[in-house]
Amino acid sequence: MNPTTAVPGIDPAHEAARSAGLDPARLPKHVAIIMDGNGRWAKGRGWDRTRGHRQGADVVRAITTDSVRLGIRRLTLYAFSSENWSRPQIETSYLMRLLDEFLRGELATLQENGVRLEAIGRLDRLPSDVRATLDATRTATAANRNMALCLALSYGGRDEIVDACRAIARDVAAGRLDPQSVDASAVQARLYAGACRFGADDVDVVIRTAGESRLSNFLPWQAIYAEYVSVAALWPEFTITDYHAALKEFQARERRFGGV
Ligand code: IPE
Ligand code: IPE
Ligand code: MG
Repeated sequence: MNPTTAVPGIDPAHEAARSAGLDPARLPKHVAIIMDGNGRWAKGRGWDRTRGHRQGADVVRAITTDSVRLGIRRLTLYAFSSENWSRPQIETSYLMRLLDEFLRGELATLQENGVRLEAIGRLDRLPSDVRATLDATRTATAANRNMALCLALSYGGRDEIVDACRAIARDVAAGRLDPQSVDASAVQARLYAGACRFGADDVDVVIRTAGESRLSNFLPWQAIYAEYVSVAALWPEFTITDYHAALKEFQARERRFGGV
């Protein structure tokens, strides 16, 4: 269902959440996913790792569309970490080509679903043609209002904090910023995505596939109070049902934020 098509008296997102067995009032605003296990999925079938990445791209499409349908405001996907540059060049270049292909192929669907594409990371390390496709996609979808799909590319959480510190230092040195007024929102504003226009700066839930239980340098600033859900399924086999089960687990948690 196209969530921009309003039916009087019915909120399509609420209906979608209810039919997935979720409480529409307690859906996470910002979901972040560490899409792990592509290589293992392919290896387990006797295939090259790259086939796992290709299959994984189809799952990205399905999960993005379902997130819009549910009324989630921001979906951040860990697609390529700063550490992933250490992989063999044949794999990193395949991933870059796949990203380019994905962006070109998805533009129509992003527009149809009202999804704004964002990217976080040291994007200057991406090949220039991929960077150009990324910029074109971001520009073309900038006015979309249903959900932000934020791709973490060449992303490292520590790099992001370092880069924000550099931006603060530059602003202080230039006399644009008083050190006394540096607070959390001043840092937030200098993170790669800046302040989120959908009011979803902080991550509510981090989902990691392939049964791993580590953060691998993902969103240390944004996820300080996120609930963490580890899922056994490998990313290429992760289904909408697995996704809804992870969101149910999130909804079953009691979030206290340090209170009593
Ligand atoms: C995740 O799958 C995708 C990226 C990191 C780009 P992996 O490629 O890490 O797959 P495994 O963990 O080796 O199975
Ligand atoms: C994390 O997965 C990065 C992405 C999913 C893009 P990795 O497979 O790179 O993480 P580690 O090496 O297992 O921590
Ligand atoms: Mg991995």
